[in-house]
Amino acid sequence: MSSIKLGLHRPILNGKVNFPLCLAPMVGLTHVALREVMREYLPQDAYTIWPTEMLNSRRIPGENLETTPETMRAAHEPGLVPQILGNEEEAITESVKRLVEWGAEAIDINMGCPVQKALKHNYGVALMGDPNYAAEVVRMTVKNSTVPVSVKLRAVGSTKELDELLTFVAGLRNSGAAWVCLHPRTAAQKRRGWADWEQIKLLHAAVDFPVIGNGDVQTVEDAMLMLKETGCDMAMAGRGLAARPWMLWQLGEELGFAAPAGKEGLKAPRTSEEEGAEYGRVLLKLIERSRHYFGEDLAMRKVRFYVRTTSVWLAFGNALTGVCAKARNVDEMLEGVAKFFAVPHEMSLRTELRQ
Ligand SMILES: Cc1cc2nc3c(=O)[nH]c(=O)nc-3n(C[C@H](O)[C@H](O)[C@H](O)COP(=O)(O)O)c2cc1C
Repeated sequence: MSSIKLGLHRPILNGKVNFPLCLAPMVGLTHVALREVMREYLPQDAYTIWPTEMLNSRRIPGENLETTPETMRAAHEPGLVPQILGNEEEAITESVKRLVEWGAEAIDINMGCPVQKALKHNYGVALMGDPNYAAEVVRMTVKNSTVPVSVKLRAVGSTKELDELLTFVAGLRNSGAAWVCLHPRTAAQKRRGWADWEQIKLLHAAVDFPVIGNGDVQTVEDAMLMLKETGCDMAMAGRGLAARPWMLWQLGEELGFAAPAGKEGLKAPRTSEEEGAEYGRVLLKLIERSRHYFGEDLAMRKVRFYVRTTSVWLAFGNALTGVCAKARNVDEMLEGVAKFFAVPHEMSLRTELRQ
């Protein structure tokens, strides 16, 4: 049980969530294998939400959710909150129905994706330029859902334009959104540069429902700082948490949660060398679990992408990327990675996020 109160001032998933940190939805990264490896670091008494990567609501109705890599799930995965991208009622209705049957505990709507295709089809961040239609998308999703519906947003240009954001969010709230997540980088910034946490703070103060903060949380200290400084209900971390799944364990220690299952009596990695070694263990497990779920070829592609995105915190990250690129099959990859981590590697606390 938590002894320090941080985050969760307002209930998420009707109060089921008791842990104020979660993984972000990331195309190519937030999949069943990574979630499985990460869950091993979640304190035993913690409940949090787990996203999928964004799923196109036009495609979900025709897909086999059990075998499609983006929607594969393990037998027991509590807290699943798949993210959909879309703007048409028929596709959303059918997608929501299928995702709820699949095990979704909430549905998240993507209003942050800045790619050209999203702008062209008026979904993703394009919806932020169309407040009435964005509210309509929430309304049609809520109407067809038996589980809560949330929205993931991007920042407006600056805090001066905050009124716009508040009006926008009020529209979502009136349409039935259960909570929002704000990633305060603008569409133009994509995922680089400074995330303006002040916007999270102002948004949280202005609304009466849960707000999740996201952007540039690279360490457990960052997660605690975001929770403290912005007052948000939960911190969501993307690249930083993918690279350091044990951040869940570290935060659990800070907040007085139990150790993760099987790690009773142990301490979470803290020094740069301990973290470097843990990264190696995570990677080996991820390779193995990716092969289990995705098969040889797709596993290698997914692991290479994981390493390109997360090895930026390692002193010799480029060399590790090379090891994974060179491997001709999963066994060679496992062997190369094991050899790489046979000597100590240091992991830095922060880096400039570019990808
Ligand atoms: C490779 C990659 C793919 C992403 N895909 C999605 C996505 O599918 N849906 C979404 O809402 N955001 C997506 N994002 C944005 C993240 O959810 C998050 O908002 C962003 O990375 C900022 O958080 P961070 O600084 O902790 O990484 C993606 C980010 C990355 C790095």
